[in-house]
Amino acid sequence: MNSKAMIPMVDTLAWHQPIQQELRAAASRVLDSGRFLMGEEVTAFEQEVGAFLQANQAVSCGNGTDALILALSAAGLGPGDEVITTPFTFFATAEAIVRVGATPVFADIEPETFNMDPLRIQQAMTDRTRAVLVVHLFGLPARIQEIQWLCEEHSLLLIEDCAQSFGASVNGRMTGTWGDLGCFSFFPSKNLGGFGDGGLITAKTEFMAEQLKVLRNHGSSIQYRHECMGFNSRLDEMQAALLRVKLKYIERYNQERKKIAEVYRSCLQGLDVLLPAGQGHVYHQFTVLTDQRDQLKAHLASQGIASALYYPIPLHQQPVFRGLPITQDLFVAEQVSRRCLSLPVFPGMTAAQVSRVAESVSRFFLDEQAEPSYGLAGVLYK
Ligand SMILES: Cc1ncc(COP(=O)(O)O)c(C=O)c1O
Repeated sequence: MNSKAMIPMVDTLAWHQPIQQELRAAASRVLDSGRFLMGEEVTAFEQEVGAFLQANQAVSCGNGTDALILALSAAGLGPGDEVITTPFTFFATAEAIVRVGATPVFADIEPETFNMDPLRIQQAMTDRTRAVLVVHLFGLPARIQEIQWLCEEHSLLLIEDCAQSFGASVNGRMTGTWGDLGCFSFFPSKNLGGFGDGGLITAKTEFMAEQLKVLRNHGSSIQYRHECMGFNSRLDEMQAALLRVKLKYIERYNQERKKIAEVYRSCLQGLDVLLPAGQGHVYHQFTVLTDQRDQLKAHLASQGIASALYYPIPLHQQPVFRGLPITQDLFVAEQVSRRCLSLPVFPGMTAAQVSRVAESVSRFFLDEQAEPSYGLAGVLYK
């Protein structure tokens, strides 16, 4: 490969190249079956993914946003209910809360993990709080054990947004199985990325799984008999068949992501950047914090290296959420969103590409281009 070719955030062709034949065989199997919805592939995928996650129940659906909406609906959340969540996540997390008629209440994040701080969750509780919607952002699990205790103590539902944390575990237990419900996305760039849209909800109880199955199918459990208002949100046979192939390799893919992160970490040690740390990271993103974010992004672009701003505007500052009550300062989320930059990381990334990114980033900080930062850690760890 030309060493100066552009390095993208994700190269799905490079990722899938080694399993092309298996993918084509799976796609042909579905085409030849003539069945495209609610067939054997979806049933088999739900069984296989449920076993991998060691989840009591696994119910597939159309996408990760629907997974959140279905989970919140099945939990009976709606108008008058408050759901505590993070302001530093993809928009869909809070969008889903508003979609079911409930109110998102934002609790600030920790600078070490970019995830919700249990203490700030506690401070956000009111007598209308019904649930905590925790996100394991960028593949790094939140302090899920503490958050679970907190939810138990206050009789709150715990819902996990695992869109970015497929395969991440804490103390041997997968994200998505700590709470009452876990929501996953199979958007193509995700750790278990599909070939279009797809989603999944894990549930602790069979009762909840039955609710989810009714809700995803127009509120119906018996054909043409509708018990409640539902949705049309199905994973299709083609997605399920292709995801079954990728599920076989997910541990290898997450391992590859971790290896890339190790190289980045060792190259960036001692430089003027902060890196998130914690147990069980599966590196959906490798994100650095720097006061020179825009300059670093421009420097990488000049070297033909992509980088991305996940996420430049925290949710409480989104125009659409202007009317929401803000009940605590969200200082860390605001500081992090001004300083975060994600670097390319994907299975199939070559060693040469990884070195090029690592060298470019470290050269930026070692060269004069980067001015010394004045107390990045001091700002974040106030
Ligand atoms: C944290 C988070 N939650 C929810 C979603 C929504 O998933 P989907 O795009 O499959 O609807 C995403 C996807 O980007 C996400 O990153």
